[in-house]
Amino acid sequence: MNVSLKKPALSTAAKAISISDVNLYYGALHVLKDINLEIKPGEFFAFLGPSGCGKTTLLRLIAGFNTARNGKVVIGGQDVLDMPPWKREVGMVFQSYALWPHMTVARNVAFGLEERRLPRAEIDARVQAALELVGLEKLADRRPSQLSGGQQQRVALARTIAIEPKVLLLDEPLSNLDAKMRVEVRRELRELQQRLQLTTIFVTHDQEEANTVCDRIAVFNEGRIQQVGTPMDLYEKPANLFVANFLGTANILDGRVIGTGSDRTFEVTGAGSIPIPPGTDVPAGAKLVFRPQYATIGHVQPGWVSLSGTVMHCEFLGATVRYGIAVDTATVMIDVPFHSGAGLLPIGSPTVLGLQPSSALWLAE
Ligand SMILES: Nc1ncnc2c1ncn2[C@@H]1O[C@H](COP(=O)(O)OP(=O)(O)O)[C@@H](O)[C@H]1O
Ligand SMILES: [Mg+2]
Repeated sequence: MNVSLKKPALSTAAKAISISDVNLYYGALHVLKDINLEIKPGEFFAFLGPSGCGKTTLLRLIAGFNTARNGKVVIGGQDVLDMPPWKREVGMVFQSYALWPHMTVARNVAFGLEERRLPRAEIDARVQAALELVGLEKLADRRPSQLSGGQQQRVALARTIAIEPKVLLLDEPLSNLDAKMRVEVRRELRELQQRLQLTTIFVTHDQEEANTVCDRIAVFNEGRIQQVGTPMDLYEKPANLFVANFLGTANILDGRVIGTGSDRTFEVTGAGSIPIPPGTDVPAGAKLVFRPQYATIGHVQPGWVSLSGTVMHCEFLGATVRYGIAVDTATVMIDVPFHSGAGLLPIGSPTVLGLQPSSALWLAE
């Protein structure tokens, strides 16, 4: 998309979204559980979680297509829960783009504005501005069937932006695109959002998409928000095992805490023990968690601890080699930088893992 660097001709004003104590049921099914969330004005915010965890349901609640049993949804200081969707001035882009096949690109974008009975000149100006923003001004006379998936996605976006919504809601907008297109469009989406400064919620089940596009992420599981934070926060300081597993690869080892106060160690079942840094919060039933790049194999640096294991498999990935190391009954992944000419460790050989205590986490379910 050739985004023009002019100030957008469409007016946007960044609004905050505040959700408190929301519970939603489909019949007996409790789908959203005690949802509390503060989204800042102009923020690009992600709802991230596995399929079926309630992301679309919450998005539709904000848009006004679902109703909650209790709680509050406030957009730009206005309580909207009892307001019909068309009064909320919320723009939503659906997973299926829902374009009119018999209308041109320009008519598709104009449609919502015509329904609002805006003056013709205003409609034309907004259609032009929206198409320019997504780089489709030259394709205004085409029909959706004459466009690629990525272009259709941009028409859907232009149509939504043209109504000058208070907030933009995107439900898995990249999921119908091929892998290469997804990477391209997500970058454009980020750029567009930055220029418009429009508060945006982006729903996805893909952690890489959420990490690369959004300022902050709410991680969902089974209708509950597990944690809210920047991509880095969630990766470095996950609140529980679910978040650690969902964002990146996490090695998880069983064990038990020995000692009390500032003199605690974690005895990893069948492999050795690690001092727990004083002041570390270790929840009941915690397991040891660390990322593949935070351990060494075969040598242990001063101040690090060693755990014994056996080399089970090895994948050469170019810049790194990923080893699978059996530690007692678990297998952990360790990424080692690859140096030209260096040999690989033989499968089946005993080895030691070196782990820096400060990069270890203790997390429970
Ligand atoms: N209209 C509906 N009626 C009954 N159950 C629904 C309806 N829509 C979604 N569900 C159920 O609610 C849960 C959450 O769905 P959804 O919000 O679509 O999840 P996600 O978008 O995270 O994949 C799922 O268990 C789903 O099967
Ligand atoms: Mg969904």
